[in-house]
Amino acid sequence: MYQAPPIPSDVVSLADYEPAARQRISAQAAAYVNGGAADELTLRANRDAFDRLRLQSRVLAAMPEPQTRLTLFGQALDFPILLAPVAFQRLVHPEGELATAFGAAAIGAPMVVSTQASHGLEQIAGVARAPLWFQLYVQHDRGFTEALLRRAEAAGYRAIVVTVDAPVSLRNREQRAGFRLPPGVEAVNLRGLPPMPPNRASPAESEVFRGLLDGAPTWQDIAWLRAATRLPLLLKGIMAPADAARAVELGVDGLIVSNHGGRSLDTLPASIEALPRIAETVAGRVPLLLDGGIRRGTDVLKALALGARAVLIGRPYIHALAVGGPVGVIHALKILRTELEIAMALTGRPDLDSIDRSVLWEG
Ligand code: FNR
Ligand code: LAC
Repeated sequence: MYQAPPIPSDVVSLADYEPAARQRISAQAAAYVNGGAADELTLRANRDAFDRLRLQSRVLAAMPEPQTRLTLFGQALDFPILLAPVAFQRLVHPEGELATAFGAAAIGAPMVVSTQASHGLEQIAGVARAPLWFQLYVQHDRGFTEALLRRAEAAGYRAIVVTVDAPVSLRNREQRAGFRLPPGVEAVNLRGLPPMPPNRASPAESEVFRGLLDGAPTWQDIAWLRAATRLPLLLKGIMAPADAARAVELGVDGLIVSNHGGRSLDTLPASIEALPRIAETVAGRVPLLLDGGIRRGTDVLKALALGARAVLIGRPYIHALAVGGPVGVIHALKILRTELEIAMALTGRPDLDSIDRSVLWEG
């Protein structure tokens, strides 16, 4: 029987999990999980932008049957919070993604499983009763990519999330820490992927343009994927209204407004800053989700106010996984859900549909 480690009694918010996790994971793993791209300006912006937004309270509202339910791609959810795809979860807990899936299932939150998961996607599906979505990184070998898609379909994944914002990245914090995957942690779902063709760049040429970008996905691949699956198809990593418009024209079912938690292109704005214009462009044609910096129920409320149907969290549940395994994941989600309910109560919003821009202080 699995023995859950106790959650320290001073861990009462999502942010409290970060220092608690640091005591349990290696400095290298902490650099990988917590770090962002380059100077980490976008990483910080994700938080600062939420903190700058103020709420408008509304008192004395009758709330006869308050609730946070929603339907997303035909799936009924009790609350609008999902687990973002995070690679290599065995870096922080021996059971990795299996523990996360177990916790997510217990509380009914969809988990988006990364292509770079450190457990097999079929094995993860074996422990989960909660809806699982599969995050697809388009591989340089399109045949292998399609095989991944078919495996996810066969294993019962309910949506495909194609991450489009990280064909290359620059992670100085990881470099300084000398981050390497420890033995035994690998992207098991990519076993059998034919190696990248050898880097064609001569020393005088660009490694990025003549090497790393080889095989990176383009809009053509999105059209191909759209035709290749009947599952709901989402793009993750959209920050430009023009890209959002193009994705909707291609028939994608949803968009995740995200800057990859500040891990992709540094000096992008906060995702919450990008959301309003994307929402205006998309004009309700497909649901928008948002991630990046969500740490409080008030952040969830603000994201919904600015046009998101639901949000995802990344690092906080990884910290919680490190501290408490599946129990930590459940506890973190429960904290965030409760905080959202408190924020709704104090702004007089009995359900998600009643959350609009008027919850924001416009003074
Ligand atoms: C990520 N993220 C990510 N995204 C993705 O599409 N595929 C992946 O494999 C990963 N891997 C990954 C690893 C780690 C350690 C982190 C922290 C993040 C990005 C993730 O899905 C999400 O966009 C951000 O984590 C959201 O920001 P917060 O909640 O961490 O601030
Ligand atoms: C990351 C990749 C795996 O953010 O998406 O580390």
